[in-house]
Amino acid sequence: MESHLCASLEKPPGASPPSFIALLRVYRELLVSRIRNTQCLLDNLLRNDYFTTEDAEIVGQFPTQADKVRKILDLVQSKGEEVSEYFILVLQKVTDAYYELQPWLDEIGYEPSECICGKPVVNTDPVSRYCQKLREELGRDSKFTMSYGQREEMLLEDIYAPSVMELVSFTNESLGQLCQLEALFDDAAGLINEDGETIYVFGDAGIGKSILLQRIQSLWARKELDVGTKFLFRFRCRMFSCFKEDEAICLQDLLFKYNCYPDQDPAEVFHHILQFPHTVLFTFDGFDEIHSSFDLSSVPEVCSPKEATHPLVLLVSLLRGKLLKGSKKILTARTGTEIQRNIIRKKVLLRGFSCSNLKEYTALFFREESLRVLVWDQLEANPYLCSLCSVPLFCWIIFKSYEHFHSMFDSHELPDCSVTLTDVFLLMVEVHLNRSLKTSLLRSTPRSRVEVFRLRRETLLSLGRLACRGMENSFFIFEQEEVSSANISEGDLQLGFLRTVKGYSGCDDQATYEFLHLTLQSFFTALFLVLDEKVSAREVLRFFNECSSTEAAQSSCLRIPWLKKQLAGRDPFQNHEHFHFTNLFLCGLLSRAKQKLLGHLSSPAVIKRKRKALVTYLGESMTCHLKGYARSRLPAYNQVQVQPNFVWLLRCLHEVQSAQVWRQAARRMQANYLKLTYCNACAADCRALAGLLRHFPRRLALDLDNNNINDYGVEQLLPCFSKLAVIRLSVNQVTDHGVRILYEELSKYQIVSFLGLYNNQITDVGAKYVAKLIEECSSLEYVKIGANKITSEGGKCLAQAVQKSSTIFEIGMWGNQVGDEGAKAFAEALRNHPRLTNVSLALNGITPEGGKSIAEALQHNNSVKIFWLTKNELDDEAAVSFAEMLKVNKKLTHLWLIQNRITAKGVKHLSEALKENTTLKEV
Ligand SMILES: Nc1ncnc2c1ncn2[C@@H]1O[C@H](COP(=O)(O)OP(=O)(O)O)[C@@H](O)[C@H]1O
Ligand SMILES: [Mg+2]
Repeated sequence: MESHLCASLEKPPGASPPSFIALLRVYRELLVSRIRNTQCLLDNLLRNDYFTTEDAEIVGQFPTQADKVRKILDLVQSKGEEVSEYFILVLQKVTDAYYELQPWLDEIGYEPSECICGKPVVNTDPVSRYCQKLREELGRDSKFTMSYGQREEMLLEDIYAPSVMELVSFTNESLGQLCQLEALFDDAAGLINEDGETIYVFGDAGIGKSILLQRIQSLWARKELDVGTKFLFRFRCRMFSCFKEDEAICLQDLLFKYNCYPDQDPAEVFHHILQFPHTVLFTFDGFDEIHSSFDLSSVPEVCSPKEATHPLVLLVSLLRGKLLKGSKKILTARTGTEIQRNIIRKKVLLRGFSCSNLKEYTALFFREESLRVLVWDQLEANPYLCSLCSVPLFCWIIFKSYEHFHSMFDSHELPDCSVTLTDVFLLMVEVHLNRSLKTSLLRSTPRSRVEVFRLRRETLLSLGRLACRGMENSFFIFEQEEVSSANISEGDLQLGFLRTVKGYSGCDDQATYEFLHLTLQSFFTALFLVLDEKVSAREVLRFFNECSSTEAAQSSCLRIPWLKKQLAGRDPFQNHEHFHFTNLFLCGLLSRAKQKLLGHLSSPAVIKRKRKALVTYLGESMTCHLKGYARSRLPAYNQVQVQPNFVWLLRCLHEVQSAQVWRQAARRMQANYLKLTYCNACAADCRALAGLLRHFPRRLALDLDNNNINDYGVEQLLPCFSKLAVIRLSVNQVTDHGVRILYEELSKYQIVSFLGLYNNQITDVGAKYVAKLIEECSSLEYVKIGANKITSEGGKCLAQAVQKSSTIFEIGMWGNQVGDEGAKAFAEALRNHPRLTNVSLALNGITPEGGKSIAEALQHNNSVKIFWLTKNELDDEAAVSFAEMLKVNKKLTHLWLIQNRITAKGVKHLSEALKENTTLKEV
């Protein structure tokens, strides 16, 4: 029947026209079940005088939607072919309202006939009109990036560069990179909890969380991100702090009032949303920025979509899936924020710009070729600057400042290699102040930094006071009143450190403000603490206290906001992460290098006192972090595993630039194995780390597995390679370039015994450097280079190197692609090797051919004890060779052959052979 109708629609030349009446009759029930909006059909039928008002009234009398559709169909069919066709035309034209019928229209191959083509169709469906409005508004709002300089807005599209996004497990183990935004919503990769509904995106401040959401919004608005959602609602969590404790609103208001208001029939739109929650996407930005004294434990778990309640309850219920279950949600927060596990569906860690991302971003930012080349040359010459630039915010500030000075002085250099983050922010402040001064006073010679800061001292203090007040209370939004009472004038606002935001509280007409970025608020807070003479030396340190108390709180899990009953009076959302930056800038501002500048803005004696208090505190902290040790798995090493906060301490120490503290800490460190796994350490942190370790009196082991240090980080470690005997850099985005540096350095000192490079981005090129190191460096015993991109070529080089080395003890190649050629080369290496004890060639695409040569070679080996060949393509034939080998070999204790293609037959041969072998413990 269907094919017959389709055929009739596709009308062969000369055949009679298709019957639309018949079509409607045949597909009646399908239409009844899929048409949800009858109003739009009625509106159009009325407008074209196909229906009379009586017709519409008759339809209106039917209570259910399905019956209304049936009645419309009856009437339409009774009015003849033209009306029936027009009915179908409306279904086709109003795609949004009848999207569920589009596949059907395709199936029947409907194309409007000439006479019906000219008839007007209007879209009066409130839901689709709302969707359109939502897209338009969102498209407009997400088009430009934050305007730091007020006047200089940039199109997001022009400046957005991809950055590293990594899917991770609950315990932050890497599950692979996320290459496309669509994949965020795709269950194929990175799903860690099926019951959770929230995609949790986290990363450090300035790493690009907000921009990522903006990008998603912008693509969605342009229909370039197809994730099957009709609605997108965005929220910034910090805005929830604006609601009073006793404020109550219902979900409908939360969605419409703070996003986009439907022009027609809000109730109908809301009803649609409730009915189809899976068509809704939420973005919630900055969960760590919520501050409220509202007690969540006092409300019942479940809340109804109609009921008015505190907005935070709505937020939490949405995230948990108690409201609008099935809707998609992306939540961002800074690293270190605790989110209840069971709401999380996927975890995505933002890592900032990789080396190649940075290059792309540079190209976007500096459109002019000559300038671009200049900047890139300077960057290449300064890996530390590159490593700072891996945080997009800092990169942006550095580029922006560079651009400003370049335009003023024609030629300009990027900040030199000794730049700290405080320098970067001082530079930004200087640029902003400079710009305003330049326009107000016409001067030809540029002012000195001291002069610029001195002229604006009062403004800086006022901004600092406001920032500090907010920081103390975890407030990131300021009302007009607060701004005025901090003596911030209209002119000060023009400087561009603060920007206006749409308010959330009742008084919508009043402007509300926020700092351009949280890190800037931290900077001004630090500036205030340093400059204000009323702040004592002790008080300067108060945010350090807050940070260390977080650690204690974390271990008892007090900060899980909504699960645990809260202690009375405690802010359930309290979060101390933002204090880290304040402390960092405090250290930078109190460094010796800044004393001159600050001495012009405040009493030098007071500053000196503050510096002294700070340095003492840092020294004690460092000692405290590094005290104690435990035995490590490697003989002769005692290890200390530091807290993730240690990285912040390192950063602080780097800012304060006190060699004295470094020396002191290094001397007091008892352990000789420093373990910094899963600390979220980035490239720039390696510089600080090197600063510490180079003062260490003995050789030592450094474990940086599972961080984000990349090639720039490897380069930053240069000053301490002469001390490192054990280097673990697994899961760190190191590429061949980084490996080359390692080779060049480590071969100089000849002390390295352990090199861990598992799960990086090393190809055959890098493998060759590692091979050279194995060959040239007789101290090297352990090499772990699995899960990289090494093929037979690299495999052969490594095998040949192993063959030549008489010291190598372990080589781990799990998860590369060396294949049979590689396997044969390793077989050669094994033959009569004097020392090699542990070998892994698991998951390397080795077939029986390669397997057999390994088995054969092992007959002539008296050193290997453990051999992994798991997950290859070995079959029974290979098993026979291994069985033969086992009859001869007397050294092997563990042979892993599982997950190959060995059947019961092969196993039989192996077990036969085992009767003649007494050394093997496991196979
Ligand atoms: N992928 C990116 N491409 C270009 N610029 C970026 C990117 N990510 C971040 N930035 C820059 O860094 C700034 C800070 O990013 P933001 O998203 O606000 O950080 P976060 O929310 O993680 O603190 C942005 O205003 C933008 O200038
Ligand atoms: Mg943000």
